Amino acid sequence: KLTVEDLELKGKKVLMRVDFNVPLKEENGEVVVSNDNRIVAALPTIKYVLDNGGRAILFSHLGRIKSEDDKKGLSMKPVAQRLADLLGQPVTFVPATEGKELEDAIAGLEDGQVLIFENTRFEDVVNGEEVKRESKNDPELGKYWASLGDVFVNDAFGTAHRAHASNVGIASNIAQTAAGFLMEKEIKFLGGAVENPERPFVAIIGGAKVSDKITIIENLLKKADKVIVGGGMAFTFDAANGKAIGNSLFEEDKVALAKQLIEEAGDKLVLPVDAVAADKFANDADTYIAEDGIKDGYMGLDAGPKSIELFKSVLSDAKTVVWNGPMGVFEMPNFAKGTLAIGEELVKVTKENGATTIVGGGDSTAAVQQLGVADQLSHISTGGGASLEYLEGKTLPGIAAISEK
Ligand code: 3PG
Repeated sequence: KLTVEDLELKGKKVLMRVDFNVPLKEENGEVVVSNDNRIVAALPTIKYVLDNGGRAILFSHLGRIKSEDDKKGLSMKPVAQRLADLLGQPVTFVPATEGKELEDAIAGLEDGQVLIFENTRFEDVVNGEEVKRESKNDPELGKYWASLGDVFVNDAFGTAHRAHASNVGIASNIAQTAAGFLMEKEIKFLGGAVENPERPFVAIIGGAKVSDKITIIENLLKKADKVIVGGGMAFTFDAANGKAIGNSLFEEDKVALAKQLIEEAGDKLVLPVDAVAADKFANDADTYIAEDGIKDGYMGLDAGPKSIELFKSVLSDAKTVVWNGPMGVFEMPNFAKGTLAIGEELVKVTKENGATTIVGGGDSTAAVQQLGVADQLSHISTGGGASLEYLEGKTLPGIAAISEK
């Protein structure tokens, strides 16, 4: 499999798929990027291409486009602006995804210059009709985009679980494809942890719903030495163990599955032993520490102090840790302790054990950022759905398409 360093870049039109699907906000009546992590993460590859005399043609999807109306708030223009600021050089924004304006702009690029064209998902709606040319990988679209460049670099790990025209389609229609540095780094860390971890390997899975994470838990129970399951979904496991859970989150149709996992996994599966229980879903709720199940009228919103100690002891000698999903409702300060404690413990094992610590998924990433420790961990994945599917052990089409070449 090629990487960007294997490519001859000088004078080449380099098609670069990035994942710039970033959150936006309005500021003084203007739409701006509100979190540029994914743009920053792609800079090494972009700079490498430009420094080596490539002509960079960047593109990404942004949000989901189901109607002409959706296009209004989801232009790539603010992203182009932020990229220019970060790169410290002009970035030409082309407000089209095909046609003469785009082709002329590409023809006018000089070595070391960069352009970004409009949201690839604008191709999902044509003349008001939802045709999903990009999202359903219309073969003509992939072929057309491939024709615009000489080589293809895919650095969009965050989109690797989607088979779009702009990743899979282009890859199958161009002579040379390569992974960018971000793509390589994501595969090295997430793949390394799952396939060849230094042990003990501890996985921490949190979040609200069992149904969202069940395949990950099953896969990681096969790979890891311990799997900590916390957050809202732990209550379905508690219910399976016959504990009272009050008004906590609960998926009745997953109780049998939870029971089966508890039996099969034995002490490999680590569940919370207490909870911060609240009488309503609000930061100012009345709370108590529930140790023997949760009483009626209350719901568990965070891991309790004994659970935090248990999780810490499980993590204390870890050499590899993968973390996905919060341990409680960390957006509310009174229910953030469990999640923040995991973040702190990860910093500790990174420093003291030389452990490889990997965080994947939006919520846990937000938590380590809230703590201000993101740069003290080994790797923060830029993938949401992509990192989840990777941890589930699935083949990601975006990666397969460039590896097959
Ligand atoms: C993501 O943010 O997970 C990726 O960019 C994919 O976006 P999507 O879920 O809209 O396909």
